[in-house]
Amino acid sequence: MNPVETAIVTTPEERAACFMLRMLVFVEEQNVPPEEELDAYDVTALHFLARVTSGLPDDPTGVIGTARLVEKGEGIGKVGRVAIAAEQRGKGVGAQLMRFIEQIAHERGFSHLVLDAQVDAIPFYEKLGYIAEGDIFLDAGIEHRTMSKSLAPRSEA
Ligand SMILES: CC(C)(COP(=O)(O)OP(=O)(O)OC[C@H]1O[C@@H](n2cnc3c(N)ncnc32)[C@H](O)[C@@H]1OP(=O)(O)O)[C@@H](O)C(=O)NCCC(=O)NCCS
Repeated sequence: MNPVETAIVTTPEERAACFMLRMLVFVEEQNVPPEEELDAYDVTALHFLARVTSGLPDDPTGVIGTARLVEKGEGIGKVGRVAIAAEQRGKGVGAQLMRFIEQIAHERGFSHLVLDAQVDAIPFYEKLGYIAEGDIFLDAGIEHRTMSKSLAPRSEA
C-alpha cells in the first residue's frame, strides 16, 4: 500500500514538481501551448499537491497530483489546473485533492468555488457537487464549461 496525502505547497521543490506535472498533463498530453500553461495567477495562487508519502523513484517529492486556488474576491475562489499523473488516475486521488482544497478554502473564508471544467471532466466535478452553468466555450482549443459549488453548510442537511 502506498498512502496518498494532500498538502498546501510550501517548498520550491514541491512547486517545481507541481509545475512539471502540469506541463506533462496539459502540454504534453493535452497539447495546451506551453506559453499558456504557466501564467501570472501562478505567482499569487495557493498551490496544492497530492503525493505518495514514500516518494517516487525519480522524484523525492512524490507529487502525483496538483491544483491551484485563485482568489476572485467576494468570497469566491477559482480552482484550476487540476491534474493527476496519468498512471495514478481512477484511484480517488483527484477527489481527495478537491475535498482538501474545499476544506482549506472553507477555513480561509471562501463561500463559493468556481472552476472551468473540461467537458470530459464534468462528471468528475458533478460527483463532488459542482453544478455546470452557461455555455460551452473553448480555452486552449479544449471545450470547457463553468461550474460552481457553494461551501456554505446546507441548512436542510
Ligand atoms: C480529471 C482528473 C483530475 C480526475 O482525477 P482522478 O484521480 O482520476 O479522479 P478520481 O479517481 O478521484 O475520480 C472520482 C470519481 O470521478 C469519476 N471520474 C473521474 N474522472 C472522470 C471522467 N473523466 N469522466 C467520468 N467520471 C470520472 C471517477 O470514476 C470516480 O467516480 P466514483 O466516485 O463513482 O468512483 C484526472 O483524470 C486528470 O488529471 N485528467 C487530466 C487533466 C484534466 O483533464 N484535468 C481537468 C481539467 S478541468
